[in-house]
Amino acid sequence: MINYKVEIAKLLSEIIEGLSQEEILAMLEVPANEDMGDYALPCFKLAKVMRKAPPLIAKGIAEKLSENEMFEKVEQVNAYVNMFLSKKDVVSHVVGEILEKGGDFANSNEGEGKTVIVEFSSPNIAKPFHIGHIRSTVIGNSINLIYRALGYKVVRFNHLGDYGTQFGKMIVAYRHWGNEEDVKAEPIKTLLHYYTKFHEEAEKDPSLDDEARATFTKLEQGNPEEVKLWQWFRDESLKEFNRVYDMLGIEFDSYKGESFYSDKMPRFVTMLKEKGLLEESQGANIVNLEDKGLGVALITKSDGSTLYITRDIAAAVYRKETYDFYKNIYVVASQQNLHFQQWIEIIEMLGFEWARDCVHVPFGLVSLEDGTMSTREGRVVFLEDVLNKSVEKTKEIIAEKNPEGLDIDKIAKDVGIGAVVFQELSNNRIKDYVFSWDKVLNFDGETGPYVQYTHARACSLLRKAEVADGYFVDVDYGKLTGDASFRLVKLLYQFPEIVADAGAKYEPSIVTRHIVDIAQAFNRFYHDEHILVDDEAEKKAKLALVYATKESIAKGLSLLGIVAPEKM
Ligand code: ARG
Repeated sequence: MINYKVEIAKLLSEIIEGLSQEEILAMLEVPANEDMGDYALPCFKLAKVMRKAPPLIAKGIAEKLSENEMFEKVEQVNAYVNMFLSKKDVVSHVVGEILEKGGDFANSNEGEGKTVIVEFSSPNIAKPFHIGHIRSTVIGNSINLIYRALGYKVVRFNHLGDYGTQFGKMIVAYRHWGNEEDVKAEPIKTLLHYYTKFHEEAEKDPSLDDEARATFTKLEQGNPEEVKLWQWFRDESLKEFNRVYDMLGIEFDSYKGESFYSDKMPRFVTMLKEKGLLEESQGANIVNLEDKGLGVALITKSDGSTLYITRDIAAAVYRKETYDFYKNIYVVASQQNLHFQQWIEIIEMLGFEWARDCVHVPFGLVSLEDGTMSTREGRVVFLEDVLNKSVEKTKEIIAEKNPEGLDIDKIAKDVGIGAVVFQELSNNRIKDYVFSWDKVLNFDGETGPYVQYTHARACSLLRKAEVADGYFVDVDYGKLTGDASFRLVKLLYQFPEIVADAGAKYEPSIVTRHIVDIAQAFNRFYHDEHILVDDEAEKKAKLALVYATKESIAKGLSLLGIVAPEKM
């Protein structure tokens, strides 16, 4: 796609002496008010170089620029040069390119030859996959999709929490009070029940704690019986997680979780010792990061067992050595900020020069407004239940509209799940937010259903007009210069930049907001201008814009991991 800003900077650098193209590029603004043009150049800074009053400079530049056919008009207003691009030129560039490439016009090759790791979701085995996990799962998946669109090779990691002393407790509980059928029927609920039961019983009988510790040691040493049970718990839990991933259309390339690194840590403990970074404290080994304001990191416990942080150090090195990543991205709640700061610091102290290529992408908390859904004592809100409930509610809403010839089940699934995902990705990720059914399922608000509905509306227009392959030849873009269509075209034009920006900031909500803007601009265009007019040339041009919009919205939704149904 042509980059107008760069083209304008090029032109200006020929007119303005003493400033480089980059400097001019940095000065160019996009005015908030469209009456001030598509781009504007403030001339205050030029006064020094050109030794003239800024309005006079602006006037001179405006006069010279107006000769160029890239512009419809160029005006001087006070110290500003306001540039209005030739509408027809912009429309034919943008719509023409989308007709040719489809939604992939928003892709780039920024990441060519580079591998990025995106670690996301990473739930703990035998623990509920609850509403809190939706954030990492959905934000991480979208970052993965955005990086793919930017041309990176992406490896999706699910760093399962599948290791730790709690497995000793669970095995003990299973042996005392468990049975196979219950675990198979409802693995996570059952295992969670064992875990709670263990704690209740251990209060009465502390010897259970010793038994659990001994059992975990056996597991660590690879004792076949314990390993078999642990493996079984892991497999059954994963089956349950996968049900949710299937609903969300999410896949992973690696499920290497914490247990995978259990034998890879001595190397780092030794390295830390050799570099004199390890200190002993009450039998445990620590790295003191107080001078960096990062407290103390516990590397091994007094019984020699390793910790979460040590496994993260081993995991990062493993990933570097296996994939030679350009970036290693962790989508993990902001509660773990200190943890990430600590281990990345330690990696750096160990001399790994790629330490800062490990990026923690934090996010805020989700809570629930609906009392019946809140996390009470032992009452957890399972993510799967939330998704199912959303599908159910969507089905009711759609059924009320009495649609004919629609696969209601399929649409309710696409829209119901899309709605939850969309709401999740609507807010700046770092903000805490309250999950609200009203907001999720509102077909008129800035929601998933609204955007999906707009997409379906565009599809329906194209169907009605019987647009077939080969229809869009010799499009007369001069017919598309009305205000509503031009506003829409400008949003489509910005889309590739938006995707790049969302990638650079690890912020899917930038894409979410932009497709809401596109949907709103499209609906205004739809209301302001009659599309299926008698004039064939005008109709064709308008339908070309409808098609370009449809492709862009579908692409945007796909970057969020959301399906775009053609009918709803
Ligand atoms: N399993 C952890 C939890 O549920 C999240 C893991 C985050 N990833 C990591 N590499 N530490 O809190």
